[in-house]
Amino acid sequence: MQAAASIRLITKEEADIGLLMEADPDEAMIRSYLDDSLIFEMREGCRSIGCLLLFSHDKTLMEIKNIAVAEAYRNKGHGLRLLQFAIEEARRRGAQKLKIATGNSSTGQLYLYQKAGFKITRIVEDYFTNRYPAPIVENGILCRHQVILEMLI
Ligand SMILES: CC(C)(COP(=O)(O)OP(=O)(O)OC[C@H]1O[C@@H](n2cnc3c(N)ncnc32)[C@H](O)[C@@H]1OP(=O)(O)O)[C@@H](O)C(=O)NCCC(=O)NCCS
Repeated sequence: MQAAASIRLITKEEADIGLLMEADPDEAMIRSYLDDSLIFEMREGCRSIGCLLLFSHDKTLMEIKNIAVAEAYRNKGHGLRLLQFAIEEARRRGAQKLKIATGNSSTGQLYLYQKAGFKITRIVEDYFTNRYPAPIVENGILCRHQVILEMLI
């Protein structure tokens, strides 16, 4: 069951960089796409519990650049709700395709994104091992490749 929470557009000054870094450990990378992204905050009561960054590549393609739910609020349906919100928002803004990328080791995220309707369309081999200084290991798997998922909306 999905919990009741509200989602609103915020400014980059209001964005919780610490929360965004739970999805992308590279702060410089986050700052490089923050300026050009639509930033949405999920709130439950007066608490900020989630964040979503939507980026327009062009008129037809939007990308979820970052999605994160605060640890204490995970596994309650908020992540799925943010994905559904992103799909509706991208459609409302005229996009025809929505993209999201993750790592080969992010098994839970791959599950969640496919459950939300995304399809794996491409693998960028050695993306993470070539770009990040230290190895990233999740679920006992080396995060090596970038997995790109897309959805026609
Ligand atoms: C990924 C994330 C946003 C999901 O948010 P969430 O609120 O926990 O997601 P939901 O509760 O909507 O999860 C929906 C389903 O996916 C599963 N799931 C979500 N994230 C998972 C994970 N990391 N590992 C295993 N399963 C996961 C849930 O168990 C649930 O399954 P169910 O519907 O069959 O019960 C959240 O785990 C998070 O912020 N992680 C850290 C940041 C991150 O990794 N961002 C994405 C980078 S690509």
